[in-house]
Amino acid sequence: MKANNNIFRLIGFWCYIKPKILQLFIIITTFKFIKEWQPKATKVTMKAWRLEQPRVENLHLVNDDPIPQTLEDYEVLIKVLAVGLNPVDYKRVKFRPKEKYPFVVGLDIVGIVEKRGSKVDENSFVEGGTVVLLHGSFENRVGYFAEFTLHDSRYLSIVPKEIYQGKDLAEVASHLAGLPCASFTAYQIVFNRLRLFPQDRHQDLRGLKNIVVSAASGGLGGFALQFLRIWRDSLPEEQREQVKLIATCSKKNGDDVTKLGATHAVDYSSEDVVKRLQELTDNKGVDVFIDNVGFENKRIELESLGYEGQLIISVESGDNFGVNELWSKAQSVHSIFVPSTYLSRNHDKMEQLRFFGDEVLKFYAQNQITSLVSEILPFERVKDGLEMLEGRHVRGKLVAKLWSKQYDIKLFVIYLFIEKNGLKNFNLKKCFRKHDTMIG
Ligand SMILES: NC(=O)c1ccc[n+]([C@@H]2O[C@H](COP(=O)([O-])OP(=O)(O)OC[C@H]3O[C@@H](n4cnc5c(N)ncnc54)[C@H](OP(=O)(O)O)[C@@H]3O)[C@@H](O)[C@H]2O)c1
Repeated sequence: MKANNNIFRLIGFWCYIKPKILQLFIIITTFKFIKEWQPKATKVTMKAWRLEQPRVENLHLVNDDPIPQTLEDYEVLIKVLAVGLNPVDYKRVKFRPKEKYPFVVGLDIVGIVEKRGSKVDENSFVEGGTVVLLHGSFENRVGYFAEFTLHDSRYLSIVPKEIYQGKDLAEVASHLAGLPCASFTAYQIVFNRLRLFPQDRHQDLRGLKNIVVSAASGGLGGFALQFLRIWRDSLPEEQREQVKLIATCSKKNGDDVTKLGATHAVDYSSEDVVKRLQELTDNKGVDVFIDNVGFENKRIELESLGYEGQLIISVESGDNFGVNELWSKAQSVHSIFVPSTYLSRNHDKMEQLRFFGDEVLKFYAQNQITSLVSEILPFERVKDGLEMLEGRHVRGKLVAKLWSKQYDIKLFVIYLFIEKNGLKNFNLKKCFRKHDTMIG
């Protein structure tokens, strides 16, 4: 917490020139110490976004959710630093009635391991010292948009120290929280299904020359573009020139998707997308269409897909694709649904989530991808964030952080108060009552 250190240096300086501040400095340092240790030692309840009943109006930030006390063998208790917001979170609130209400919403988090279950590897997971990133399960026994959560240590990734060392951890965690769901899905699409590995420099293009990423200005599309760019950049020049990465988005986001890797941006809101795609592909049709839009894009996908074209469906798109029609053009469809991985109850599939996380973190550490975070919200605004996502025009990723800089502001408020009214009139309890900082 770099900023806090600076504040303390500043206060130290004032103590030097104004001795009466020294007393206050000691009070504040003690307070900070108690506050930081409080969650571990005494707290039994926590803040959490709890859905009482289906529908968004029943989603509330509560203070009384129990902090999990018992851990299963492979579980770790995690102090959450930041959460990532995804369309699946609002869809779950709106459309996926869960049998057992209430439950705490959310899936993507970054946090610090607080406690280990009995079978968790103690060398890899250090209590109070290991930063982890994960995409959670719909069926976890506790939810994720909370101060603390539990997760199976076999299905999460450890964030390498080089990513946050010497930096403001709260800030780094906020950016990392943008990664899990969207980047894991993009990884699954580009590397696992399409098998477009950047390492293989002499690969045959396998006829994959025209690749469309729809909703490329969103989270999933943005990561898919970045991974495709990495693959395209790794090709020998004459092959690279043949590959078109075509993004669909509105005009205002054209420059952004080009920076992420698109060679062409098509404005879906003003252009005839099918016609434009036919022009760009010399009427051959596209080889891969990564659809991140759903039902309303179906006609565009099917009309623009070329011979042996591959359609990647990451969003609900209805049932009637017409297998015969696909067959007549030797086309195929891949369905991708990363948040349902845990429902497979297949250990190997669930372990893949850790693999995706580890791989994505490597790309991130090497600055090959950005987290796409366009806005960091305070945790109290998670519900607003979900409503923004429902509007379907968010650029990149929305995240919310639990660590707040309110503490710094409080110190300044106290300082100003004492400067004005004198130390005698200072009432610490009164000062802090209105500012209940969550962690740190
Ligand atoms: N299957 C999976 O595992 C998986 C994983 C992650 C996400 N998803 C799904 O993928 C979809 C995209 O998710 P996301 O996280 O990228 O965020 P998102 O919030 O759904 O995407 C927002 C972006 O979509 C663009 N957009 C809206 N309508 C469009 C249209 N008709 N054509 C082209 N672009 C359009 C907007 O661009 P403009 O503002 O420029 O219009 C905006 O930047 C969601 O439905 C989500 O549930 C699935």
